Amino acid sequence: MKKLTIGSIQKRKSSLPLVMITAYDALFSRLFSESADILLVGDSLNMSFGGNPDTLSATMDQMIYHTNAVCKGAPEIFVITDMPFGSYCDEKTALENAIRVYRETAADAVKIEGGTDKAHLVHHLTSNGIAVCGHIGLLPQAFRAEGGYKVKGKTETEALTLIADAQAIEEAGAFILVIEGVKADVATRVAQSVSIPVIGIGAGNGVDGQVLVFSDMLGLYEPFVPKFVKQYMNGASSVKKAVSNYKTEVQNKEFPNENYIY
Ligand code: KIV
Repeated sequence: MKKLTIGSIQKRKSSLPLVMITAYDALFSRLFSESADILLVGDSLNMSFGGNPDTLSATMDQMIYHTNAVCKGAPEIFVITDMPFGSYCDEKTALENAIRVYRETAADAVKIEGGTDKAHLVHHLTSNGIAVCGHIGLLPQAFRAEGGYKVKGKTETEALTLIADAQAIEEAGAFILVIEGVKADVATRVAQSVSIPVIGIGAGNGVDGQVLVFSDMLGLYEPFVPKFVKQYMNGASSVKKAVSNYKTEVQNKEFPNENYIY
């Protein structure tokens, strides 16, 4: 598959929906590369892979380590790396950390959370040669500040705020926007209000593509399954069954049999 460019991604606005999925390592990015248009090295890795209760303790070093692995596994796929909490609190910090992503990995773009209030950061990055993906709606990095994961777009005021956020992020130069945890009709209005592709997660079908956290959609992450997640396989029970079979065979001295020895 030919790697998408920012231009070819933008041409997918209101056309063939974009397929985005998170990836955290080379093993899975290689597998996903057959179907995904875009791989997102999400800071959600801090939860499913890092074992933490939220994304807030993810670090730049962690994101760079995982981005390198993902890019090595899928060099032909467009990769976006999440800027972790605290890595873009002002323009100087944001640019230094985004430059680290470009210098130390082969990622194509970075993602930052926030709307109108973060537009000046998006503008600072894009005007310094960094491709930026915005992220509005439910913001996982605001988990503690907002006291949980809050679905957005429940009132007309919130809907208008989301539209203003999307337009500010587009105006600041972002080439694509993720919208998370937003009422479906409002997400559709947001997508219609901008000319960049809007990728939904828990935001219905009126957008320009979808993203899911891979450990959620493969049924591997058990602590919490959000309402919007469709599990395309029962990963956790398949893995547990396989390891349990291995245990039984090891303990019964059935593995390795003559087929598996030198
Ligand atoms: O970190 C992540 O995986 C994300 C997705 C939820 C979009 O930002």
